[in-house]
Amino acid sequence: MRKTLAAVALSLSASLIASSPLASAQTDAAKLYQGKCVACHGLDGRGSAIGKNLGAHDFHSPDVQKQSDAQLAEAIAKGRGKMPPYEKSLKADDIKALVVLLRALGKQ
Ligand code: HEC
Repeated sequence: MRKTLAAVALSLSASLIASSPLASAQTDAAKLYQGKCVACHGLDGRGSAIGKNLGAHDFHSPDVQKQSDAQLAEAIAKGRGKMPPYEKSLKADDIKALVVLLRALGKQ
């Protein structure tokens, strides 16, 4: 499980090799995800038992992937359903980086 996220972080960094500040932002996003999101969404983005119980959707599902970056960012910032809002604890750039990360997770 842990490997999946590391692999995402790695492949994201690899695709951004020319811009190291961005690459390190992605690594930060992976850390944030592990610290704040894994409990409900799981390392692979499919949702933990707790998360599924609360109604979290699999990030691989078309229902999630068809939403725009802005919609996904808004869900993180404002919260949605039983998910808490993160606009006070995360910067807008962190939220954007998390959207990139969960899109990548959803494609694994
Ligand atoms: C307490 C559990 C919990 C935590 C922690 C949590 N989420 Fe969620 N998240 C949910 C639930 C439940 C939903 C589904 C909300 C709904 O549609 O009713 C959700 C929905 C989402 C969505 C919208 C996608 C969809 O289901 O349509 C995104 C994006 C998201 N979460 C990202 C994150 C990120 C990034 C973090 C960490 C910063 C995070 N979540 C932390 C429970 C959680």
